[in-house]
Amino acid sequence: MVSRVVPVDPFDLVVFGATGDLARRKLIPALYRRMADGQMLDTARIICAARSDLDTDGFRKLASDALDTFVSKDEIEGDTRERFLSCLTYLQLDVTSEAGWDKLRGLLSDDGRPCAYYLSVAPRFFGVIAEAIRKVGLVDEQTRIVIEKPLGRDLESARELNRQFAEGFAESQVYRIDHYLGKETVQNLMALRFANALFEPLWNAQHIDHVQITAAESVGIEGRGPYYDNVGAMRDMVQNHLLQLLCLTAMEPPSHFEPDAVRDEKLKVLRALQPLNDPSDVVRGQYRGGTSTSAYHDDAENPESRTESFVALKATISNWRWAGVPFYLRTGKRLRNRVSEIAIQFKDIPHSIFSASAAAPKSNVLAIRLQPDEGITLSMTIKDPGPGGMRFKETELDMSFADSLALTGKRMPDAYERLIMDVIRGDQTLFMRGDEVEAAWSWVDPIIHGWQNSVPSLYDSGSSGPEDSLMLLHREGRRWREISA
Ligand code: BG6
Repeated sequence: MVSRVVPVDPFDLVVFGATGDLARRKLIPALYRRMADGQMLDTARIICAARSDLDTDGFRKLASDALDTFVSKDEIEGDTRERFLSCLTYLQLDVTSEAGWDKLRGLLSDDGRPCAYYLSVAPRFFGVIAEAIRKVGLVDEQTRIVIEKPLGRDLESARELNRQFAEGFAESQVYRIDHYLGKETVQNLMALRFANALFEPLWNAQHIDHVQITAAESVGIEGRGPYYDNVGAMRDMVQNHLLQLLCLTAMEPPSHFEPDAVRDEKLKVLRALQPLNDPSDVVRGQYRGGTSTSAYHDDAENPESRTESFVALKATISNWRWAGVPFYLRTGKRLRNRVSEIAIQFKDIPHSIFSASAAAPKSNVLAIRLQPDEGITLSMTIKDPGPGGMRFKETELDMSFADSLALTGKRMPDAYERLIMDVIRGDQTLFMRGDEVEAAWSWVDPIIHGWQNSVPSLYDSGSSGPEDSLMLLHREGRRWREISA
């Protein structure tokens, strides 16, 4: 069955910071692809604002180069490229100056269509832009404002940010992107849980031994050194992406698949997270240099740095469903492979009826793979086929999304394609609400404060992280899954 693309209504999108990395790498390719698929029509207006001294032709050239660099050749089609580029208008604008905003007004449509302001700029400009568009009267009920992390660096700054936005916008107008929520598999997790009768009855402490959530990267922090060194893995990945994955895994079924129903359930999970008081439940690491790879210190340009490029921790959720079920989270740079997955480890069978020679059946694991090879696998124990008596073998029921998409001739959409179209449609389901962001910081802040004098453990590039991370599970008779591609 070929899925149907439903075109979105005409819209205006203003991208602040349009010459920046995010815009070139992600936003322009995502919009192009939505046009190529027929979801974004020629009626869309994309106003690209930045400080650079460019005109619209100059910007279209930059956008065209971005397509050549970040979209594969076979997706580029001459006519679509021209149609797409003709939707783009460039506006030279210094957001800290009073000049230029009237010009922006002149570029916007006056037919009552939705207008989204995408703040692809450093966070210090969030408040400046939000205030400016409000002051010059560019906000009405069709306005949406889109921001992306870092959404603060602790609870206090996150609250301040929320307060700034609340001055000019209703919560229903603020779209806080966590790009993990736009990943196909993450949405599939909700389909798996709530569109199938099979798993939900087993989705609790009675049947699940523990959950492992991994976001491992093989790259280091090169290119982002000084920025990253001020942030670290806890703020960069755990406070947002990993906790969001934990929420979607652990939340109760919402009454409807609607923004506030889903976000209410996620918030309950965040609020039920037990404070992480035991320092031995968190491991921080920093990668060493190798023969052909640089050390974290060099990449960060800070020989004294104590910032972590790796975190592993044990989280527990205080509610009936998850009592006693650890959620182990781990993320890091320069690890063995690039793998992101959620693994649900079921309990062992209560009693084996088979003789000792058959070996104990392994417990089932449901692995929801975000990348690479997006898909879901369920490991099962079966009889090793053929003669030789009852011997067991582990096998996997493998549902690769790429295979299913290949059947329909489609490719895996990038998270930003989905998320930008959701902004235009006014659907906030896959965006974080302000109170969720604050609840996540409330849990993370004390952990970070507890690190004042600690030094991260070193680990080898290309490894699975520091030894203490292995111990985090070993001491409880468990082990991490391999970080294998
Ligand atoms: C970003 C982090 O939010 O996510 C980066 O700031 C990280 O440090 C990236 O590399 C990982 O995203 P993905 O989609 O490649 O897993």
